[in-house]
Amino acid sequence: MKFDLTDKRALVTGGGSGIGKAISIALAEQGAEVHILEVNKIPAKETAAEIKAKGGMAQAHACDVANQKDVIKTINAIAAEGAIDILVNNAGIAHIGNVELTSEADIDRVYQVNIKGVYNCIHACIKNMKEKGGVILNMASVAATVGISDRFAYSMTKGAVLTMTYSVAKDYLTYGIRCNSISPARVHTPFVDGYLKQNYPGMEKEMFERLSQTQPIGRMGRPEEIANLAVYLSSDEASFITGTDFPIDGGFIRLNG
Ligand SMILES: NC(=O)c1ccc[n+]([C@@H]2O[C@H](COP(=O)([O-])OP(=O)(O)OC[C@H]3O[C@@H](n4cnc5c(N)ncnc54)[C@H](O)[C@@H]3O)[C@@H](O)[C@H]2O)c1
Repeated sequence: MKFDLTDKRALVTGGGSGIGKAISIALAEQGAEVHILEVNKIPAKETAAEIKAKGGMAQAHACDVANQKDVIKTINAIAAEGAIDILVNNAGIAHIGNVELTSEADIDRVYQVNIKGVYNCIHACIKNMKEKGGVILNMASVAATVGISDRFAYSMTKGAVLTMTYSVAKDYLTYGIRCNSISPARVHTPFVDGYLKQNYPGMEKEMFERLSQTQPIGRMGRPEEIANLAVYLSSDEASFITGTDFPIDGGFIRLNG
């Protein structure tokens, strides 16, 4: 079987919802044992149960990626049972607003999860991974490349995810660790529905359509489409790929305008 992940142990942050959930399910379908690190334990348990119901291997761990002590404790416990082959840094949060509408508290909050969370997980995993190599996959965004309007803090943090990817790829190349990032445009997840409900009550359908059209392909991405790319990049079939960002964006970066 191509993209076989049998005997691989994978960590996915934010696997209780949206893209992280789809990635957790897809990695497990290829045979990986999946550990979901989630600040919301209940949805993480639901993802793990869904995987197990289909015969896969999964475990949910309550873990706030922004909290280094929490991350070290969780990852050390997982590593004590065997090597970590794949780390998917997916957990992320958003903030809407230009620089004037971004308070100190806003920027700190987004930094804690989107930047420090990624650093915390890599920092805690890398020693274990150096022993036999592995794959680190970071969830960036098209915002990292184009700087989406009214997303000052979010775009800034995703830019940092991109450069963390390049830095880790360089530093750990000789240890057989490949590090890449994925940059989706808008993907239809609970996050998007929540955003529309909160900001455009009564106009959700119209705004959904408008957001869909910002991708030249005319729709949002599906979490499963991002998960398929994550499976490929995690597999040995992608063994020649490191230090690269992969836009998956319905033409957003290159075909707009
Ligand atoms: N949906 C999109 O349009 C889109 C586009 C580009 C990039 N992304 C990125 O993809 C990733 C997933 O996005 P999504 O749309 O699936 O979001 P989502 O809100 O549906 O899921 C994110 C998950 O991360 C978890 N999480 C949040 N903070 C956490 C923390 N501190 N510790 C552990 N878990 C935490 C949440 O509980 C949630 O289950 C994010 O990094 C996001 O920035 C999303």
